[in-house]
Amino acid sequence: MRTDAIIRFDHVSKSYGENLVLADFNLSINKGEFVTVIGSSGSGKTTMLKMINGLLTPTLGTIYVDGKDIARENQTLLRRNIGYVIQGIGLFPHMNVRKNIAYVPELLNRRDKKRTARAVERLIEVVGLEREMLERYPAELSGGQRQRIGIARALAANPEILLMDEPFGAVDEITRKMLQNEIARIHQTLGVTIVFITHDIKEALKLGTRILVMNKGKVEQDGTPEEITLSPATAFVKELVQIN
Ligand SMILES: Nc1ncnc2c1ncn2[C@@H]1O[C@H](COP(=O)(O)OP(=O)(O)OP(=O)(O)O)[C@@H](O)[C@H]1O
Ligand SMILES: [Mg+2]
Repeated sequence: MRTDAIIRFDHVSKSYGENLVLADFNLSINKGEFVTVIGSSGSGKTTMLKMINGLLTPTLGTIYVDGKDIARENQTLLRRNIGYVIQGIGLFPHMNVRKNIAYVPELLNRRDKKRTARAVERLIEVVGLEREMLERYPAELSGGQRQRIGIARALAANPEILLMDEPFGAVDEITRKMLQNEIARIHQTLGVTIVFITHDIKEALKLGTRILVMNKGKVEQDGTPEEITLSPATAFVKELVQIN
């Protein structure tokens, strides 16, 4: 067993009723990796991601985070250690940006308001936005700006792991490039472990230190961008990288 794994799926299967979505899935992710996950629609990517923070539970098998079986952990504490960013992240519409980002840190250190205020000002810079944005409401932001606030909020509890499910799917090409550069920089500077689902093979190859190609609940290939492009393991992977 690899002891340095921060996330490990050990013989995990997941069914919805009769429908087996993941069959005997095994995966070990080390601290600091940036894993991009790409594959056909319905191949089980979101299901896999949601099992890491306990939003879904495996039908069979065990998932370990930091070496601990998450089924035995306190789910609230588990989720605090794992940021979660989805497309069009649900910001609280009645709270301004400052309140949105401060939401979790305020829960964590109720007494130290200054500490939370400092964290919020640091985070807004981390995601490349101006401080004046802090007083705005979500409805007063562009889609790309909202996405950045979603990332800032996910980073606010200082998580070890960041799960991202097609986070940049709904923004234009230019904003998408900027967000990609931002997340690459965040990964390098904070050293956070990232699992990032995308439908865009270019995005998967650009961001991932490791790429997981999934099809029908199975891993077709698990490798570096070079391995995926230079020696695709299956016809499915070959076709995927040819689009690139
Ligand atoms: N709550 C649910 N109940 C029943 N079936 C579900 C449920 N959630 C997902 N599924 C089914 O499980 C399969 C995998 O879904 P999942 O959302 O993990 O796919 P995905 O790889 O994320 O797809 P996409 O790329 O379209 O987002 C699909 O066939 C889906 O219809
Ligand atoms: Mg999905």
